[in-house]
This record gives sequence, structure tokens and C-alpha cells, in this order.
Amino acid sequence: MGIPDRLAERMSMAEQHEWLMSQRPSRRSVFRAGALGAGALLAGPSLLGSAASAGTGPTLATTNSTADGASVAPFARHLAFGADPRRQIRIGWQVPTPVRRPFIRIGTDPSDLSGRIPAEVRPLHSEVPGAAGPVDQYYLHVELDGLRPDTTYYYGVGHKGYEPASAAGAISTVHTAPQRGRWDVEPFTFTAFGDQGVSPHALANDGVVAQQNPAFHLLLGDIAYADPSGQGRPVSATGANGTDIFNPTIWDSYLGQIEAVASRVPWMVATGNHDMEALYSPEGYGGQIARWDFPGNGPKACPSVYSFIYGNVGVISLDANDVSNEIPANLGYSKGSQTSWLKSRLKFLRRQPDVDFIVVFFHHCTYSTTNAHASEGGVRAEWVPLFDAYRVDLVLNGHNHIYERSDPLRGGSPSKAVPIGGTVHPDTDGTTYLSVGGGGRSLYSFPAPDSYAGHVNDAASVNTYSWTGVGVKTPEVVTWSRVRYTGYSFVAVDVTPARLGQPATLTVRAVAESGAELDRVTLVRTAGLCTVGSRGVSDAKADFDAA
Ligand SMILES: [Fe+2]
Ligand SMILES: [Fe+2]
Repeated sequence: MGIPDRLAERMSMAEQHEWLMSQRPSRRSVFRAGALGAGALLAGPSLLGSAASAGTGPTLATTNSTADGASVAPFARHLAFGADPRRQIRIGWQVPTPVRRPFIRIGTDPSDLSGRIPAEVRPLHSEVPGAAGPVDQYYLHVELDGLRPDTTYYYGVGHKGYEPASAAGAISTVHTAPQRGRWDVEPFTFTAFGDQGVSPHALANDGVVAQQNPAFHLLLGDIAYADPSGQGRPVSATGANGTDIFNPTIWDSYLGQIEAVASRVPWMVATGNHDMEALYSPEGYGGQIARWDFPGNGPKACPSVYSFIYGNVGVISLDANDVSNEIPANLGYSKGSQTSWLKSRLKFLRRQPDVDFIVVFFHHCTYSTTNAHASEGGVRAEWVPLFDAYRVDLVLNGHNHIYERSDPLRGGSPSKAVPIGGTVHPDTDGTTYLSVGGGGRSLYSFPAPDSYAGHVNDAASVNTYSWTGVGVKTPEVVTWSRVRYTGYSFVAVDVTPARLGQPATLTVRAVAESGAELDRVTLVRTAGLCTVGSRGVSDAKADFDAA
């Protein structure tokens, strides 16, 4: 029951969803919105007492009979930071069938997990046109607030009849971010890739990422590929009549695949074109809201837009579907609120005296030369002036299934060539842009030869293009494509805060699925020196705790 092509072309994602829903025999909510009050205040010695007194949790709002809880094993545990990674952790997981009274047990001592916190249930009901039948998925979530900074917590997930403490391998850990302040932050590493999907390469990348022991992982959009068409069109099981193919059960495989890492490393997600799923309102993001715990401090219209501070790094997640000329299903859906929010957030971060680096991540590439998608002109027009104005240090994108690094750019022009092993001073040199889409999905190609560590093959210029309007590809000849690698890969970013007499450094290492290093570049900032913003301590004091 897809939307006719001639109609779909003129409809936004929201309109497509409305149309699709109107064709169904009875309209029902696929996402029960609103928190059920599962958050609990956990602080200091009262942690276990507070948790234990939180009472029993809600049962699933379903008329299905529940199975014997002992026979139902939770799976797909995945973590996220809240807006304040020092004190807020979100834990999500899944059960294959309805259960009663889902909960987590948590504590700082693995031998004493008597603290029990009820879970919020987010059932997701999917009726895909052309599919054999409906699919029901049961996502469970707990929001933990008031945690201690820089502390390891042990947790297990369960429900009536299933105790995690008695299940082998069911206890995992999560570590909160360090207290803010220049002297409280030790060096740390975070990782990133996009375009993962479910594949042996995706699994291998998870393994190499885990070896980096990252403080958190950034997923740069195109997450599971339950919608392998990725056009944001109405969906069907077969892709007939110009629809996007959609199979919601791919998410079960994906979330199961990442569990080994994501159950102990916060998995911070941005949305790509394959993550617009027209079956779910609003804007194709209702499924993502059911599956993930987004920090929720971005513009109201954009669930996957948010920001957090970890140590001396301010991180911002954006939704480039809002500005994409190439795949315009959600073009303009935030009505400008995302860009306004980005500006205010960049201003805020630059005022923080302890934030040295700003890292922005989103899906569509600002600067890439692949034959497949190349560069998104909508991003350049809407956001690059802000990246320039606020001296953003590093931008991480996916979408192109390769690894590529630009020379530092300001106003679209490179300031200098930075070879592998080189150094960038972002405040004067400009922003470094990475395309890191080799997370596991099938690979793309470049018009120029690959050039990476041990295989340097500099190209004086590359003929490529940018999506400067809807359906408009404008050719360009560029000199900023410094490193290119056609292969499965990710980046590990090693951050060292400033110390007496020593600047802060952020070293990007691109790593192949095999573990081999492909690229390395170090960004350097001297503490307190930035050509924008006001970084005086008194000025920022009021903002400090609000971050
Ligand atoms: Fe992709
Ligand atoms: Fe994509």
C-alpha cells in the first residue's frame, strides 16, 4: 500500500507518514510517548536505598499474555549518556516477548546489586505493507540521574522471574564522566564510525573499537539499515511502487550485534538517511525514539540533536536530514530551529573555561570526494559558517562508506596541507573534516587513488561535486582531500587535557578493521586561547553546572 510516486515526490516525511497511516484499517499509536517516571535519584551512600524504595515498575501495556519470565532472556543492552555524562546514564535493552515488572539492578559493588529500579516500556508495533504480519518489539529503558562522577557502576537487567545476578554474563559496567575542571580530567579516548548495519565487517569493527577502551562511541548515522533504500519514502516489505524496503526485525539483529560493546560503552547516535523510517511518526523518527535514549537537550523538533561535555571536549550531534539537498525527505523539518540551537550551543561551549575542543558529528558529508555521495551543499550553506565562526575543531561525518580526511578548512578553503602525522592548530588553521563511513556496510569508491599510511599517493586535485540544491550536483575541483582509504575502518580520538606549560591535544587515529593505523593527525589548543567567545572563569561560572 505504498504512496504513488507522483504523490510521494511532493510530500514531506511527515505527510507521507500521515498518508500511510490513513490507509490502515484502524489508526493506533505505535509509540507510547512520555516517560513513566523511571528515573531515580541516585547519589552517594543513599543510592541503594533510594533505588530499592522506588517501588515496582510498570507492566507492559499489552493485552498479550506474558510468558513465564524465567524463560525470557533480555538482550541488546545499550548505554547512553544523558545531557550530563558525569551524573546521567541511560540504559536500554529489549525482550523478545512481553514480561512483567522489568527492572535494573545497579550498584558500585558487583557483589551487592540489591538496588532495583523499574524500567520504562516503549513497545513498538510495526505493520509494514506487504509483510507477512505485524512485528511487535519491546524496548525497555531506565534513566539514571544523580550518579557520582568518574565512578564505575555494575548493573544487570531483569524482570519478574528473571534475576540478572543469577544469569551468567548478565552483569555489565558503566563508567560516568569525570568531574569537570582542568585538573580532574585524565587523558581519554573516544571512537566513531558511521554506516554500520549488520555484517561480519560491522562485528569486526565493534571488536577493534572495544580494544580502544573508549569512554564513549559516536555512531555517525545510517545505523542498522532496516530501511536499506534510505530515501525516506513510504515503506513496504518489497520496495514495490517506489517505496523504501523496510524490515523492522533488522533492528533486533543490530542491537544484538553491538551489545558486547554498547552494554559498557555509551553508544551516542546521530541519524542518517537510512534512519528515516516513514512508518513511524514524527518525521520517521518514532522508532528511533523507542530504541534509543537521546540526551534530549537539543531543539524540540529534533530527537537526535543534542550535546554533552566530556572532560575538556564539547560534543554536538546534529541531524543533517534537516539540511540535505541530496535526499530531501526531511529537508527543512526543524524550520530553522536546529541551526539556531547549534549557534547558541557553540557560543555556550566556547564560553566554558574548561572546554578546549568542540567536536560536531552528523551523517551527510561536509567535504568528501567519493563517487557515491560526495559533499552535501546543504550542510555547507547552513552550518559551515557557524563551524568557522566558533572555531569548531573537528567534524565527523558518515554517509560515504570510506575513510577520508580533509586538510583544515575555513570558508571552504584549505589553509595548509597536513600530511599523515602532521599537526593542526584549529584556531588559526581551520576545521578538520572526516568522513568515517566504513563501519560495516558495503564500500564506495573514490575518483582519485587511495592515499593512507604506508601508501601515500597525494593527488594535487580531485574532480568531485557538491549537492548545491535539490537534485543539483555542482562539479568542483578540490585540493583538500588529504587521506583516502577504501576499506572498513573507524577513528579513535585520544584527548589530553592541558597541563602546566603543555597545550591540550586531540589526536585522531584512523584504524582499519584489521587494527592497522591508516592516518594520524594531532589538533593542538593552548588552554584559554581562543579567538572567539569569552572564556573567563567568572563569566562562565553560571553556565558551568548547567552544561
Ligand atoms: Fe550509509
Ligand atoms: Fe547515508
